[in-house]
Amino acid sequence: MNTTSRRSFLKGTAWMGAAAMLAGCRMDKLAFGTGGAMQNFAGKPMAKVRVGFVGIGGRGSAAVNRVSRIPGVEVVALCDKKQERVDANLKMLADRKYPVVPKGYVGPEAYKQLCDFGDCDVIYCATPWALHQPVALRALLGGKIALVEVTSALTTDECWELVEASEKYRIPCMQLENCVYGEIELLEVNLARLGMFGEIVHAEGAYIHDLRGFSRTGKGTGEWEWRYDENMKHKGNRYPTHGLTPLCQTLGINRGDRFDYLVSLESNQFNIEYFKHNGGMDKNDPRFNDPPAAMGDMNTTLIKTALGRSIMVQHDVSSPRPYNRLAFISGTKGAVGDYPFRCAFEDKVGDGHAHAWFNEEKATEIRTKYCHPLWREASAIAQKVGGHGGMDFIMDLRWAYCLQNGLPLDMDVYDLAVTSCLCELTEKSVRTGSKPVNVPDFTRGNWKNVEPWGIVNVDLKKMGLA
Ligand SMILES: NC(=O)c1ccc[n+]([C@@H]2O[C@H](COP(=O)([O-])OP(=O)(O)OC[C@H]3O[C@@H](n4cnc5c(N)ncnc54)[C@H](O)[C@@H]3O)[C@@H](O)[C@H]2O)c1
Repeated sequence: MNTTSRRSFLKGTAWMGAAAMLAGCRMDKLAFGTGGAMQNFAGKPMAKVRVGFVGIGGRGSAAVNRVSRIPGVEVVALCDKKQERVDANLKMLADRKYPVVPKGYVGPEAYKQLCDFGDCDVIYCATPWALHQPVALRALLGGKIALVEVTSALTTDECWELVEASEKYRIPCMQLENCVYGEIELLEVNLARLGMFGEIVHAEGAYIHDLRGFSRTGKGTGEWEWRYDENMKHKGNRYPTHGLTPLCQTLGINRGDRFDYLVSLESNQFNIEYFKHNGGMDKNDPRFNDPPAAMGDMNTTLIKTALGRSIMVQHDVSSPRPYNRLAFISGTKGAVGDYPFRCAFEDKVGDGHAHAWFNEEKATEIRTKYCHPLWREASAIAQKVGGHGGMDFIMDLRWAYCLQNGLPLDMDVYDLAVTSCLCELTEKSVRTGSKPVNVPDFTRGNWKNVEPWGIVNVDLKKMGLA
């Protein structure tokens, strides 16, 4: 569908928004087409937040487990194309004596019924990537807040559709980017707001994760086939947000700065074939004789921002190397990076102290002294619940706290769009010999009027979790 017909599609489905309004959903004003209308948008405080899940495989089931532990948040619906997924999650909740029995929705199209008519406030989507945007869009059209796993949309058209629907119906749409809530990523936001970097000049993020083992399919489970297929067919960075979105939050992308253009380059694909032919894949696997993957091993994208800063973002899921998100920020007064954590700041401008990384003792002192208040408050409980060292539960606590208290969500539809659109734009650049590609301004100019993300927190006592 081209952009014009996609936008006409939105007009044609206005009845669904009206239906949602009648059903008591929150759409105070129509602001369709107003640049950045959903930036800092806050709805009315919600005493109870009712959540319906779509896609309850590995990630979705973990989310059901976490979210069902937040007081004032109720898991009221479970949707998956497979009956056994719904049954397993119902059992998990029943075993824990969860006071609510969620309604089950089963089948590949069942999410439409849930989004249109389900009795819930929030749709939490953890399906394969290609379904994220259709589910999120349907949720917005059905008057429901859309929380959607990464990568949240795969084309710029899909991103625009979400922006326009979120603006039109005044309903938030947030990507569930848990890495924004990692300890070091939060530390960097704190250091940036305290001015410790001076002017931020350059940043680096990545998703470097050896997933070759997960790509091994054909053993009858069907697990992750969809992800293998995405990588087989596409070039560019199809999973940019783990590395990039935290940098955007620190740099104030869409909030004082914006992406201007990018160039993307990638290596050829070596590792998957090597893996296949050196014992990594069973010869009887139906994919053994597939043509080589389109995806190169290492994709590197460079982004220039409107304020003249540079960002590097990498993607590599097929090389035998340790996990890394880089999380690197460099400014006029110092630099911080992760994997391993390291930092260096000039104690006095020009005295050269930042020529070497601080020793371990001094680095630990910085890490402890400038720990983000949200990590300080919630990391202990989050680590008990689990999920990537605690950041998953902190993310869930934050959106729940914001909705309960009528606060803007930490990430809005523009943040989702500007990071997700890299899927299409990086592929376009790679396939045209790394030519520069402009990045759309999804805020339509409003990035100039918005302050960077502040230092946020939750009140665990108020949430009933102290
Ligand atoms: N943020 C993170 O750290 C993180 C970690 C893991 C996965 N993820 C993301 O979570 C998403 C899910 O990943 P996963 O590992 O759980 O995959 P998975 O394959 O285990 O789960 C996907 C689920 O979606 C269901 N599904 C497929 N089509 C459906 C449809 N039409 N309607 C309803 N349900 C449908 C499948 O049956 C399955 O249960 C992906 O986008 C992935 O990138 C994020």
